[in-house]
Amino acid sequence: MNAPNPQREPIIVTERSAGRTRFGLGERLFALVIAFVMLTEVVVYVPSIANFHNTWLRNRLSAANTAALVFAAAPADMVPADLADAILTSVGAHTIVLKTADTRRLLAASEMPQRIDDTFDLRTATAMDSIAAAVRTLFTTDGRILNLVGDAPMGARFLEITLDETPLRMAMIAYSINILLLSLIISCVVAALAFFALHRMVLRPVRRLTSSIVAFGDEPENATLIIAPSGSQHEIGVAENALATMQSSLVRELNRSKHLAALGLAVAKINHDLRNILASAQLLSDRLAELSDPMGRSLAPRLVATLDRAIAYCQSTLNYGKAAEPAPQFTRVALRPLTQEAAATAITSSGKVEILNEVPDDLAIRADAEQIFRVLLNILRNAVDALETAGPRPDAGAVVRMRAWRERDRVAIEIGDSGPGVPERARARLFEAFQGSARPGGVGLGLAIAADLVRANGGELSLSDTPAADLGGALFRIALPIANGERHSRPA
Ligand SMILES: Nc1ncnc2c1ncn2[C@@H]1O[C@H](COP(=O)(O)OP(=O)(O)OP(=O)(O)O)[C@@H](O)[C@H]1O
Ligand SMILES: [Mg+2]
Repeated sequence: MNAPNPQREPIIVTERSAGRTRFGLGERLFALVIAFVMLTEVVVYVPSIANFHNTWLRNRLSAANTAALVFAAAPADMVPADLADAILTSVGAHTIVLKTADTRRLLAASEMPQRIDDTFDLRTATAMDSIAAAVRTLFTTDGRILNLVGDAPMGARFLEITLDETPLRMAMIAYSINILLLSLIISCVVAALAFFALHRMVLRPVRRLTSSIVAFGDEPENATLIIAPSGSQHEIGVAENALATMQSSLVRELNRSKHLAALGLAVAKINHDLRNILASAQLLSDRLAELSDPMGRSLAPRLVATLDRAIAYCQSTLNYGKAAEPAPQFTRVALRPLTQEAAATAITSSGKVEILNEVPDDLAIRADAEQIFRVLLNILRNAVDALETAGPRPDAGAVVRMRAWRERDRVAIEIGDSGPGVPERARARLFEAFQGSARPGGVGLGLAIAADLVRANGGELSLSDTPAADLGGALFRIALPIANGERHSRPA
């Protein structure tokens, strides 16, 4: 195992990130399933308690029906009082009244109730009435007297009994407790099954993923911490594969960048010392010019020039290593003066190369003027270099031409020349640092820096596949955001 890198930001491993929260997914699911089953039970319970209420009352009424047959058949007062009481007790009623077409006959009465608290008519009760009556019964006090009306035997209109509601209420409470217990048992069983299934199918693999991420985050260079995909086909399996791929490439990249960083540091140190050594060599070589030996004197300028180049090389590499470009300061920049200034700076004293500036006067971009100046200068210098060393194409003067026009919300700038064009070997990695140079003494940083700067300014730098029109050499294009309120179309 590698020692954790002390410079990296510490990764805070909380219980949550390790997948072990106090109420994890499993516990939440367990509670949810119980809640859902209980909720379903409530929906089922309401009609079922109403049904229980109805059935209990119907049973009473049908017992009363049988009793009514007995009382109606016997001549009046022929049923002994104690038998009548016994029958009424078994029915659970205080009174039984039979209503025929025109009479209302009290068949039997143990004791006349003082008052009637509620009336329920089994013949006309709707489902809602039953539910309402059941709820009333359940939530009132004991000792109420209920007047129950239902169909009567022997063609009578209806039968009416008065009875104590308390036994019904007790039965309903017992029934409710049973349902509640049953619901709890069902919920627990379902929740346990769901928890078990979720645990096996989701939680365990997810916890494995989480702990792999956390452990790997702690030591991202350690390849032994890469997750081993379980090979399953579902979403978590896919996530495991993706994580394994990501972790492998991260390990590779981290190791590579560690090596590169170490290498970069070494190069920077070598460069630094080399620059100092070269500088002292330069001082010594200056004195060569004072030699009396003509051979030595003639070598001196070339030696100085070579040392100058070597020092410049070291310096630009060091600068690039340190470079952290400041964020662009966006302003409205008039393009023509900027290109004019860059052209004046790029032109050399040799006077071999002419720079034509065809940029319109009134075109402006929104960019960092200093950074875009550097971009233009780099491109112009390359063109001037190419023209001075390789010379222009046959039948052409040594010319660099700058043009610009508006393209929707951008300004396109073209810099073309009549030189030999960018050599094929330089093209592939032209905009990568240290890769694109194909000229002696070139560092290969100019275009890489230019491309970075243009990108930071919200634009693009590219090399055109086709040569500059009627010049035949390299053609670079820069696209940059236009400053507001610009109008200009491409020159004919
Ligand atoms: N206008 C051009 N005509 C011909 N070749 C070009 C032109 N512009 C660029 N190149 C080629 O592209 C290469 C890369 O250019 P770049 O500016 O990135 O690096 P460089 O000029 O070699 O070094 P430096 O970092 O000093 O600028 C050059 O070496 C040159 O071969
Ligand atoms: Mg260059």
